Amino acid sequence: MSILPALWTQITASPAQTYRLGYTLGRHAWPGQVIALQGDLGAGKTTLTQGIAAGLGIRTRVTSPTFTLVNEYANQSGLRLVHIDAYRLGDETDRAVAESATFGLEEILDKEALEEMNGGAVAVIEWAERVAPLLPDDCLLIALSAGDDPDQRAVTIHASGPLSQTLLAALRAEMQAWDAPGGQE
Ligand SMILES: Nc1ncnc2c1ncn2[C@@H]1O[C@H](COP(=O)(O)OP(=O)(O)OP(=O)(O)O)[C@@H](O)[C@H]1O
Ligand SMILES: [Mg+2]
Repeated sequence: MSILPALWTQITASPAQTYRLGYTLGRHAWPGQVIALQGDLGAGKTTLTQGIAAGLGIRTRVTSPTFTLVNEYANQSGLRLVHIDAYRLGDETDRAVAESATFGLEEILDKEALEEMNGGAVAVIEWAERVAPLLPDDCLLIALSAGDDPDQRAVTIHASGPLSQTLLAALRAEMQAWDAPGGQE
């Protein structure tokens, strides 16, 4: 039994704070990690993904894929971010899952495949709930929802396996250090 915490909620007060949370995740993520993002239009999924990319050392600006469902970015050492946006697969799970087979989503989200990809890779998937049956057992699920004021978001993070629990523990440790007196902010 793991003694690492599996669930954590944080309120972000601005897009910059959501980005910073993503940045911290990106800095601590290991190849093979899958991060599943859930939240309505404008919830902040891409903002978080941009932070994750920067934390992985990727300098290219990450945007929501307009026509493609999958985008791939690499940092200077070859470590990759596979960015998937399942929005266009629609909200009928059976159809979305069937359509995702045409571009091999399940294989993309396989931990070993991500680890073995040239330089290793982390996968981030927006609108992950649309393809929930295809998410791996070990996954960091992040739900973003509106907060009390327009610039606030409630970010709830659930770690469903050992790799994700280690990442969540690292995130919590670093963010608590920032909040502590004498921390970075
Ligand atoms: N605390 C916050 N965190 C993240 N974004 C915020 C926050 N407060 C306000 N925003 C704004 O909300 C919007 C989030 O947009 P973003 O593209 O990241 O959302 P999304 O979830 O990816 O949407 P979509 O489903 O359309 O792809 C931005 O305009 C951003 O400035
Ligand atoms: Mg988006």
